[in-house]
Amino acid sequence: MADLSVTYMGLKLRNPLIVGSSSLTGNLAKLKRCEEAGAGAVVLKSLFEEQIEAQTAQLERDGEYAHPEAADYLRQIGLRLNQDQYLNLVSEAKASLGIPVIASLNGVTPGGWTGYATKLAKAGADAIELNIALLASNFEHNAADIEGTYLKIVQSICQQVKLPVAVKLGPYFTSLPQTALALRRAGASALVLFNRFYQLDFDIERLALTPGYHLSSPDEIHQSLRWIALLSADLGCDLCASTGVHDGAGVVKMLLAGAKTVQLCSALFLKGIGRLQECLKDLEAWMQRHGFAAIEDFRGKMSQEASADPQLYERLQYIKVYVGLE
Ligand SMILES: Cc1cc2nc3c(=O)[nH]c(=O)nc-3n(C[C@H](O)[C@H](O)[C@H](O)COP(=O)(O)O)c2cc1C
Repeated sequence: MADLSVTYMGLKLRNPLIVGSSSLTGNLAKLKRCEEAGAGAVVLKSLFEEQIEAQTAQLERDGEYAHPEAADYLRQIGLRLNQDQYLNLVSEAKASLGIPVIASLNGVTPGGWTGYATKLAKAGADAIELNIALLASNFEHNAADIEGTYLKIVQSICQQVKLPVAVKLGPYFTSLPQTALALRRAGASALVLFNRFYQLDFDIERLALTPGYHLSSPDEIHQSLRWIALLSADLGCDLCASTGVHDGAGVVKMLLAGAKTVQLCSALFLKGIGRLQECLKDLEAWMQRHGFAAIEDFRGKMSQEASADPQLYERLQYIKVYVGLE
């Protein structure tokens, strides 16, 4: 039997499959199902900075607490209310599960909310995954400002806790390698590549905003695959693959690219939590076919660094393919 165990951010996982942050990991019963289905670790659903702020702002708008000090107090209460539910989930999960429990925070400013991290640590989280998604949607902020905010958030969290912190990013950076390195230097123990953003759509009959389709397809694996293959050898921190992994072949690809772990989310919504077991079986069967006894025997074998043809990883428009398609 192959040894599927891995080390991710210093945590020991029985296998590299992690259930990604979502409603699949939103309560204790679902978390237990993830563990029973074979997950190596779970990332809890995110606690959103905006969610907390919106709740507090709504109460402030109600006018009861117009005095600034009262508003300040209210803000703290607002923070506590959400926090308590989330902290309970963390501590219940830790008490009930044998696999690592990674808490998830989603924020866009380096503000007071970063203080949550210490409470998550006290509640027993094994690590924190920080989902930061800033949209460059105005004319004032340049790339350095925006990337500076990412770094400040990561620094602020990492200064407050000793827990390993993973940063989950989207793919839209002019120089992802530089940003990734800066995040590592700011304290990130791992990067999760990539987040898949909420998509905006229009209903043209009702002239209303609607959400785009929220699940990925297996075709979406390629962007994460390329960047993990490009960064895994030299970045100096762990990489976790996310987006578009729907089957055992996808898992194998990400590990070959150099990922330490692989997250699944859409595939589990579409095929059920049992998909985890199928992926594990396929991974093990592939390792046996290729004579690999452990994940480290092949992890990174197809990273850019290990490649005889490194420029193929970098060409965004590869002439042979395009010519071949015409
Ligand atoms: C219904 C749903 C809810 C999600 N909620 C969160 C969340 O709270 N925090 C987060 O970091 N990612 C969230 N995600 C993103 C997933 O964790 C994952 O990064 C994304 O779906 C890409 O992976 P996939 O292709 O395996 O689905 C959510 C995704 C879905 C489909």
